[in-house]
Amino acid sequence: MIEKPKFLETERLRLRPIQLSDIPVVQKYSLDPEWHRFLDFHTFESVEDFVQKAVNSPWSEHARFSILFEGTMVGSVGLYIELKEKRAEIGYSLSKEYWGLGIIPEAVLRVINYGFQDLELEKIFAQTDLRNLPSQSVMKKMKMTQEALFRKHSIAQNKRRDIVYYSILKSEWEKNNI
Ligand SMILES: CC(C)(COP(=O)(O)OP(=O)(O)OC[C@H]1O[C@@H](n2cnc3c(N)ncnc32)[C@H](O)[C@@H]1OP(=O)(O)O)[C@@H](O)C(=O)NCCC(=O)NCCS
Repeated sequence: MIEKPKFLETERLRLRPIQLSDIPVVQKYSLDPEWHRFLDFHTFESVEDFVQKAVNSPWSEHARFSILFEGTMVGSVGLYIELKEKRAEIGYSLSKEYWGLGIIPEAVLRVINYGFQDLELEKIFAQTDLRNLPSQSVMKKMKMTQEALFRKHSIAQNKRRDIVYYSILKSEWEKNNI
């Protein structure tokens, strides 16, 4: 049985399980067209649905943390977990005002540690639009390895997108010591 933690901490951040009262904050930052340029269109309804699903999912399937920086919610990071496979996909996003401050790498580092140590996962992967260089920069900072490029793999904003996958194994993470 996997217990939902009260919160995780890093030097600058507090990560606490996402809650319904976060919906207006997530709506505020993710409806910006620049923010979701590599993702599908976001609407008030789709964001509400995303947060509701995250809150209502078993923690052992979707462990989603809100990122608090100086007491304010600025983004989120989550693990989509396949316990049987000891594997999870990590997903993350941040309000535009806070881009470029290393907040997501700091949060992702902590959540990868949580995944390998507390959840006993053995593989964590991430995927993004091939053109999303900021997101790939985060994956490279985690010393993830590019594993695959799926051509015209998914549809977002009515266009087919090339999708790139990166991953890291627990054994590599322990050696990297970042
Ligand atoms: C991708 C994202 C999560 C990165 O988070 P972050 O905390 O800003 O990460 P970093 O501070 O490490 O910056 C990462 C890269 O963003 C880019 N960046 C920084 N400020 C930027 C800005 N104002 N505009 C555009 N890109 C910027 C830089 O290229 C940086 O790479 P570098 O460290 O090699 O210079 C964030 O940009 C974001 O939420 N984007 C919108 C949603 C999204 O694409 N989520 C990922 C889906 S897979």
